[in-house]
Amino acid sequence: MRDAQPSTIYLSEYQVPAYLIDTTALVFELGEESTKVSSQLHIRRNPASTISNAPLALHGTELELISLAIDGRTLDASEWTQSGEQLIIASVPAEFVLSCETRIRPQDNTSLEGLYKSSGMFCTQCEAEGFRKITYYLDRPDVMSVFTVEIIADAQRYPVLLSNGNLSAAEVLADGRHKTVWQDPFPKPAYLFALVAGKLACVEDRFKTMSGRDVALKIYVEDKDADKCEHAMVSLKNAMRWDEEVYGREYDLDIFNIVAVDDFNMGAMENKSLNIFNTSCVLAKPETTTDAGFQRVEGVVAHEYFHNWSGNRVTCRDWFQLSLKEGFTVFRDAEFSADMGSPTVKRVEDVTLLRTAQFAEDAGPMAHPIRPDSFIEISNFYTVTVYEKGAEVVRMIHTLLGPELFRKGSDLYFDRHDGQAVTCEDFVLAMEDASGVDLGQFRNWYSQAGTPKLKVSAEYDAAAQTYTLHVQQSCPATPGQSKKAPFHIPFAVALLGEAGQLALQLQNAALNTETADNTEMVLNVTKAEQSFIFTGIKEEPVPSLLRGFSAPVKLEFDYSREQLLRLMSSDSDGFCRWDASQQLGLAEISQALADIAAEHDVVPESAYLDACRALLSDESLDGAMVAMMLQLPSEAYLAEIFHPVDVLGLHRARETLRLVIAQALRGELLACYSRCASNAVYAADAGQIAQRSLKNTALSYLMLLNDDTGRELATRQFEHSENMTDRLAALNALVNSTAPYKAEALQRFYQNWQHEPLVINQWFQVQAMCRLPGTLETVQGLMAHPAFDIRNPNKVRALIGAFCGQNSVNFHREDGAGYRFLADQVIVLNRSNPQIASRLLVPLTKWRKYLPAAQQLMCAELQRILAQPDLSSDVYEVVSKSVQEYSEE
Ligand code: TRP
Ligand code: ZN
Repeated sequence: MRDAQPSTIYLSEYQVPAYLIDTTALVFELGEESTKVSSQLHIRRNPASTISNAPLALHGTELELISLAIDGRTLDASEWTQSGEQLIIASVPAEFVLSCETRIRPQDNTSLEGLYKSSGMFCTQCEAEGFRKITYYLDRPDVMSVFTVEIIADAQRYPVLLSNGNLSAAEVLADGRHKTVWQDPFPKPAYLFALVAGKLACVEDRFKTMSGRDVALKIYVEDKDADKCEHAMVSLKNAMRWDEEVYGREYDLDIFNIVAVDDFNMGAMENKSLNIFNTSCVLAKPETTTDAGFQRVEGVVAHEYFHNWSGNRVTCRDWFQLSLKEGFTVFRDAEFSADMGSPTVKRVEDVTLLRTAQFAEDAGPMAHPIRPDSFIEISNFYTVTVYEKGAEVVRMIHTLLGPELFRKGSDLYFDRHDGQAVTCEDFVLAMEDASGVDLGQFRNWYSQAGTPKLKVSAEYDAAAQTYTLHVQQSCPATPGQSKKAPFHIPFAVALLGEAGQLALQLQNAALNTETADNTEMVLNVTKAEQSFIFTGIKEEPVPSLLRGFSAPVKLEFDYSREQLLRLMSSDSDGFCRWDASQQLGLAEISQALADIAAEHDVVPESAYLDACRALLSDESLDGAMVAMMLQLPSEAYLAEIFHPVDVLGLHRARETLRLVIAQALRGELLACYSRCASNAVYAADAGQIAQRSLKNTALSYLMLLNDDTGRELATRQFEHSENMTDRLAALNALVNSTAPYKAEALQRFYQNWQHEPLVINQWFQVQAMCRLPGTLETVQGLMAHPAFDIRNPNKVRALIGAFCGQNSVNFHREDGAGYRFLADQVIVLNRSNPQIASRLLVPLTKWRKYLPAAQQLMCAELQRILAQPDLSSDVYEVVSKSVQEYSEE
């Protein structure tokens, strides 16, 4: 057991810093044995702080202190004390220069925060609190400083030396080392500091900004990856142009660098002018990268670029405000991706993530508002709630204001707060001030956790020609929040009549906005119970509700099958069309569950099969939409609907239904597969991506038939496709079948791609996600494979993460071996990489959802982790909160 429990930090206890650091000069002497960091900090008392004579308390962990001086006078050991993560100097002048020398060992740093080594190169990750592992500092985002960075390293091993801002000097030293000096003119918090040193190839391009600034764009990668940078470069230029056009935001320096590293805890990091990327989020070429991979690169490159304004020029006051930059930036990158590809497909993908991962988080022990009010370890709050729900909250503001007023609001926000570290409240206030729209009640989205439920019923009065929607909202209790105040929910609706959408007229229209064509309306749901009466309705319509998923809520409306079929085939809103298909699929799964329990054959409704048949055969439809509508709701989504979750039962019902669908639609699936085959040169454009996704959806159904036709198609596709999307889809189909060719396919794939780590990750993942029995043993075997490395987060995610998080039927094995396996890995990773350990363990924290036997086994593993000595604050917070009782009302 740990002897000291890590302490909780509260938003309500925020205080301005007692000291500010105007300038920061750093010298790094990078070495193989150790690295010396020398700093000179211009510090002065913060005039805004009320605490006079406050001691200077600097953050620092795992640092070896060599010397400390104030205004050139070396301090005696009695003049400072160290406690926990802090170095405290009791008495300092009102303004002074602090000089400090420390020694660190980046080569031994496996946590991947602070300065560490990845594939022989030095790199940094400072967000959120990694800078304190480099040197003593006021490591908090509201302390912003102008940085000068000198890097000295061996010239042969580390020919490229980079930091933020502009290169101001470069020099060859006599001892075989060389040195560069970097100056960043923009004051920034320490979490945006970055340093890179290594032997790297550079791919270069240029961008001319709207005011005529010529920007050098450079992507640094290992030599062997120089042929995989084009897509990232094109994405970067598209993002730069898009931010100018849509937000009026221009890049502000003459250079923009991206560096790719293999070992990285997250996707990428927006360090000022020196973004550092996980290789998986920057490298792409058709032979090695799937369509999803291409889209991820485009999205992440844009996301990090957009942070230059939403995050860097305007940053966060404290880490409780994380969604200020992440929610806004995710909203921005989502809109960008929608504009670059298919808006509906992008929206459906985002809603799917929200409804599975985010709704599950909201319903679990770590539930928190997008602006949390307390935390133990901030690294645990880089969550789908802060990111994706945070983006939904910004999207709702966009919906309530409309695009023009939203742009006025963002202009005001950037102008008003440029160069400042601010709060979510400042963002909302700028939106309100610029638009005149009252967002008072809307602020509940920032302070209340949990997924609101909207229960809607309808009533048609033919005589009065009125159609009434009764709306009830509620929100379940979450840890620390038993009662919730009503949310302000923008509820987009339309009414479908025989000949199309009906004109909408509300009986009391004052509060509500309407779109230009008057057939779609955003209702302002603000009360626990509310009714909306539409007048002049001459026929009973089918309501199209929550159009575009206008709010992150669970909608309940008692649709008939006929109404859902109608929405699915003819609603003008792509999200609602898809959602209707999912609700129909859900009804079929419920029926299949009942049929199997009663030992009856599973027979889907013929109307459902007819609808699927129509989808498959209608060549005028968008293939990507068809593919998404043909897929039954995922097991992850089912786990949000059925309580308690009977994993095995749901899996059986869903798989049986899939097989029956494949049998019924065999001819149509085959025709669709052939129709989608193409010889075109690969492009990651919406048209081709749609075609491939439909083709591979058809293939996965055909493969269920377990006959020669499916196997031959998969084998041929595996052997002859020239792009990774098709090859991997074929491999996946084979791996989940009993085809004899499967072992050979896996072996050949490995042989061909063993020199491409990102491809081998896919190879691990396909095997980890295999639905067949025995997968845990496969995964355990693969952990001993020479290509596996538990120090590399991408590999951990591909093998352990995919198995535990995306393979429910095997993870939830009835003997509990899956749970035991995960706990074992968490215990190992807790020592080497706490951030990865605590992320990995999330599937165990959801134990309350499952059947009693599973609950017990899962809980036992959580208790076993909790009993370990030396638990990191990361793992401790997640495990202890998961086993804690909390009231549900
Ligand atoms: N700010 C980064 C982003 O969203 C997130 C990030 C990158 C991060 N690396 C991290 C957060 C390490 C915590 C720890 O773009
Ligand atoms: Zn971000």
